[in-house]
Amino acid sequence: MQFFLDTADIAEIETALDWGMIDGITTNPSLIAKQGKPYLPTVREIARLVPGPVSGEVLATDYAGMIEQGHRVASLADNVVVKLPLGPDGLKAVRTLSKEGIKTNVTLCFSAAQALLAAKAGATYISPFIGRLDDVGEEGMSLIEDIVAIYQNYEFATQVLVASARHPMHIVQSALLGADVITMPFKVLEQLYKHPLTDVGLDRFLADWKKTGRSFDDEK
Ligand code: E4P
Repeated sequence: MQFFLDTADIAEIETALDWGMIDGITTNPSLIAKQGKPYLPTVREIARLVPGPVSGEVLATDYAGMIEQGHRVASLADNVVVKLPLGPDGLKAVRTLSKEGIKTNVTLCFSAAQALLAAKAGATYISPFIGRLDDVGEEGMSLIEDIVAIYQNYEFATQVLVASARHPMHIVQSALLGADVITMPFKVLEQLYKHPLTDVGLDRFLADWKKTGRSFDDEK
């Protein structure tokens, strides 16, 4: 299972890369806007930093505009994946870009029917937003279960990229369901490492050893 970081914050990306746990990055217009920096240069900077796939989203909403912007996003670096929104124009653009060998990530997926369309269009990744479904009282995780089953039934090559993750259980449940990738905010990556018993256990180990008065290097 691949872990992507869902951010445009360079400091967060550098820290996560240093921890060695991140395989790629997803960005979106809201995340880039938060950085107060220009759009394309931000995606380019991230793509240079990260060896794996980096999703950069188009801002156009019509087919011609998405193709024009998609080409510009894709030309930023070899590892850039063009992110396009669901809808007839977006999926038509996915089909065109896929035929040209450009990798695509279909974003804002909220139903299994939408995921089926994205796979038929030849998307590299489908991004179902589970947190936003949970927010409106739906069960985000059952959407992942449905998409994984549908893609397996027909052996679609499209990878399930779980998006809008909000807490560690989203990661664990996605792994249990066999999702290919999950993208998460930096805060959730940090939470994955934590368990109160780990902290308590370490404090006790160190306190017990300290009581002996010996050091790590003592030979006798
Ligand atoms: C995915 O690619 C999106 O950038 C992201 O996961 C959206 O998450 P949010 O619902 O927390 O904004």
